[in-house]
Amino acid sequence: MATAGKVIKCRAAVIWEAGKAPSIEEVEVAPPRSHEIRVKIVATGICRTDDHVVKGFFPNINYPVIAGHEGAGIVESVGPGVTCVKPGDKVIPLIYKPLQNLMPDKTSRFTCRGKQIHHFLWISTFSEYTVMPDASIAKISNDAPLDKVCLFGCGFSTGYGAAINNAKVEPGSSCAIFGLGGVGLSVIIGCKAAGASRIIGIDINKDKFAKARELGATECISPEDFKKPINEVLVEMTGFGVDYAFEVIGRVDTELSQHAFISLLGWKLKDAIPKLVSDYMEKKFNTDALITHVLPFEKIGEGFELLYSGKSIRCVLLF
Ligand SMILES: NC(=O)c1ccc[n+]([C@@H]2O[C@H](COP(=O)([O-])OP(=O)(O)OC[C@H]3O[C@@H](n4cnc5c(N)ncnc54)[C@H](O)[C@@H]3O)[C@@H](O)[C@H]2O)c1
Repeated sequence: MATAGKVIKCRAAVIWEAGKAPSIEEVEVAPPRSHEIRVKIVATGICRTDDHVVKGFFPNINYPVIAGHEGAGIVESVGPGVTCVKPGDKVIPLIYKPLQNLMPDKTSRFTCRGKQIHHFLWISTFSEYTVMPDASIAKISNDAPLDKVCLFGCGFSTGYGAAINNAKVEPGSSCAIFGLGGVGLSVIIGCKAAGASRIIGIDINKDKFAKARELGATECISPEDFKKPINEVLVEMTGFGVDYAFEVIGRVDTELSQHAFISLLGWKLKDAIPKLVSDYMEKKFNTDALITHVLPFEKIGEGFELLYSGKSIRCVLLF
């Protein structure tokens, strides 16, 4: 492409310091170095983890930083040694190295107003162009709709994988899902695909119940409707407690008798994500219901407001 080897100027959402809302800026994105790939991001979801970066909840994140990690795009150019993709390929960036704030060689490809800007998870998808290591990318089918499968980079795969891979939910089993955001609803999709017979959705926001039922929850309850601890309620409902419990709220003070560790790290993502995309294209499951809002990238602030108000499950931003 004509831009290969050159610095690209483009839009990005920079978080200048912890606690400050992302600000749309013009940034310079340097060309990819050895074993790196520069990607034109087409669509990116907003995940609660991005809000944790905005709020400054991660102690080892340096600012200014470009967050975003649930994206999909097209390869613009590749650095020396890259063999897994070529310009024009459709790709999903992968969360490979938790909370890594610079590229593997400890430098940044982003600058803005003369300052170095940090990366997030090596992929920073809140930028129209972004650079990532070749380990952090999965090539997907060129027919895949990027505005839909961008969720596979984080929220959907985390939740679905927690049910299918981590917990290995068995047919006929009972499951409780605490928190019915994008990740919790993806757990429900996974539990249903695994053949669970009782899928109990738990959230303090009852507006989430209709979507949870649509995706496979057999019952939905709010802890605020009960005086007793919710684990006792679950024992009463099921006679003995549930076989699998998933904590998908993201609050350390949540009262739970069982925990399921939710992580993408158990997946061989480079293989798993393209397979999930193929399964989606073959209509083995439908994740479109998770996308409640679509906004142009400039309206990222509105997207975060929708997350805070509990009105959105996933808001997808389009460049
Ligand atoms: N790989 C990973 O480990 C990974 C990936 C994605 C997200 N996450 C984390 O998972 C968590 C969920 O992400 P999300 O995008 O679905 O968030 P979200 O904010 O959209 O959903 C959280 C849900 O929990 C509900 N909730 C809040 N307090 C509650 C309570 N006391 N009892 C019951 N429900 C309650 C909220 O109403 C909301 O529906 C976040 O903390 C996020 O950082 C982890």
